[in-house]
Amino acid sequence: MAYEQVRLERRGRAALITLNRPKALNALSADLLAELTEALDEIAEDERIGATVITGSERAFAAGADIKEMVELDPVAAYRDDFLSGWERVAAHRKPLVAAVAGYALGGGCELAMMCDFILAADNARFGMPEITLGIIPGIGGTQRLIRSVGKAKAMEMILTGRTMDAVEAERCGLVSRIVEAAELLDEAVRVAQRIASFSLPAVMAAKEAVGRANETTLAEGIRFERRLFYSLFATLDQKEGMAAFLEKREPQFRNR
Ligand code: HXC
Repeated sequence: MAYEQVRLERRGRAALITLNRPKALNALSADLLAELTEALDEIAEDERIGATVITGSERAFAAGADIKEMVELDPVAAYRDDFLSGWERVAAHRKPLVAAVAGYALGGGCELAMMCDFILAADNARFGMPEITLGIIPGIGGTQRLIRSVGKAKAMEMILTGRTMDAVEAERCGLVSRIVEAAELLDEAVRVAQRIASFSLPAVMAAKEAVGRANETTLAEGIRFERRLFYSLFATLDQKEGMAAFLEKREPQFRNR
């Protein structure tokens, strides 16, 4: 399909989705979300793709939900049509998603970055939850994901005051995995996604599912879940290949089987 509000490119075995409404600082309109989920569905079905980078522009990853679209939101229609449910499809994507964040990641933009499996931040990145300044609260997981990522004190402060944090603070509190120079961000993010995509896809998907489970369940259940997945990976040809290659001192040839 032809996209307008996002761009989808393939870089070897990695995909790159670029949010593409630069004039509106990539405000997350309904059309942009529809295209994003469509692009992710395309990636889910493409066996050649093993991981995806989601990025914006140098000025903004995304400045939040589109306020112009939201200003007249009809709550009955929002309930009836489940206005925000498309975002669950982003969070449910089963292959790894790397957020490459430069500039503003505010409100829904920060929430989208947190739906990804980890965030690489440019040194000019700014994260924040300014919804409170608009008379609302985060609506696509921000109140739940931020606390799991940075702890109660910082999550509460960010959400109750709407203040932004810079890349250094975001790295220090665990919101982002690493800071990269702005000029290097995209290349580095694509390299990271390509490295992930070079491994056995079933193992990568199991790793994502197992780590993600930690936010959903108790430690004991999470460990049982991990163990089931661990055993099941010994049914893959790629486990045989990966271990044989190590013992034979050669590079493995994974076939995603
Ligand atoms: C619609 C937006 C927008 C947004 C920016 N723009 N953010 N349009 N929705 N969220 C538009 C502006 O209207 C402007 O368009 C253009 O982008 C450039 O923005 P400026 O404000 O002129 O730029 P600047 O002065 O550099 O300020 C940048 C900024 C500011 C600090 C990021 O734009 C800002 O505060 N934006 C809103 C951030 C926010 O409150 N996000 C939370 C949204 S609520 P024109 O046409 O005037 O040039 C939310 C809820 C999520 O995300 C839950 C549901 C999904």
